[in-house]
Amino acid sequence: MQTVMLTADQLDQAIAALKQGEVVAFPTETVYGLGADATNEQACQKIFQAKGRPADNPLIVHVLDQDGLEAVTGGRVPSTARILVEKFWPGPLTVVVASNDKIPLSVRGGMPTVAVRAPSHPIARKLIEGLGRPIAAPSANRSGRPSPTRALDVFHDLQGRVPFIIDGGESFVGLESTIVDCSLPEPVLLRPGFIGLETLESVLGQRVLLPGAHTPHKAPGMKYRHYAPQAPVIWINMREDRRIEETLSHLKQEFDPVALLAPQKWQDYPVSFFRVLGEGVDEVAHELFTGFRELDNKKPGAIVVIWPEDDSGVGLAVANRLGKAASRQVKE
Ligand code: TXA
Ligand code: MG
Repeated sequence: MQTVMLTADQLDQAIAALKQGEVVAFPTETVYGLGADATNEQACQKIFQAKGRPADNPLIVHVLDQDGLEAVTGGRVPSTARILVEKFWPGPLTVVVASNDKIPLSVRGGMPTVAVRAPSHPIARKLIEGLGRPIAAPSANRSGRPSPTRALDVFHDLQGRVPFIIDGGESFVGLESTIVDCSLPEPVLLRPGFIGLETLESVLGQRVLLPGAHTPHKAPGMKYRHYAPQAPVIWINMREDRRIEETLSHLKQEFDPVALLAPQKWQDYPVSFFRVLGEGVDEVAHELFTGFRELDNKKPGAIVVIWPEDDSGVGLAVANRLGKAASRQVKE
């Protein structure tokens, strides 16, 4: 199959393809998604095939607004979901609610619930509007790889496996949406994202649980190895420059060549490849996956990331993604 890149002016072709049961990769404000008509089981099977995604890992269903949520919900929308979507939609928030049978069971990975999000990206919205139905879309990477933040990243992973990729520039957030399970008696943060835990709790005026032994549900996708470049990732989770330098010099003996993803002040440290990661958590979130992919293309022996953990705001999401990508973490 030949993969065609489309621009934002060629959405008619993409909408026609979606109507015919084809898959289309498209930009959202979080990461690029690989979409198909969420009500068309066969079309959605093509998503699983193109990504090499396990069948028990459900897809996120993208809608325009609260009406779109109502249309796929089995029963009343829980008040937690209602409050969250009123505050954060359209935007990088996904809610999990009981599902009706409009969304095929296989799209939901066999779950009685469905994950729903209204993206804010204009291209994503035009596709949903044009199709006139919700669009099921996981991130547009090969399973296990970092989520793509640029059309070229999608091309790299899915060339020859999907007919169309829409180029909408760089994704604004750079990490996947925050997922909150609202189908349980108390809301559970299934996947941290751009919207942080403290913000969720203050908007809801109640506690939001983290998945653990005490919570019945998890996002099936979070159990798989994830977000990882081909090169091993080593996370230096330290603050003291002297300790970091010591660690770097050991790692240079162990791996060759070393690629470093770190704050600007490390740019003159002698390694084969350097890419800046920034300082603040928002910047780090935006640069992490893009940095992984850029450095991985240079085929290094290891990608070393310097980031002293900061769990505030989107920092919890960065720690979650980096923790899963890293084969080793060096702490103080
Ligand atoms: O930002 C995003 O959420 C991006 C863009 C494209 O919207 N999408 C995305 O999808 O990250 P994906 O498939 O890469 O991640 C979806 C996650 C998986 O971990 C999956 O297991 C979980 O959502 N999920 C989907 N439906 C679920 C459900 N009913 N219950 C629990 N977890 C669910
Ligand atoms: Mg994904």
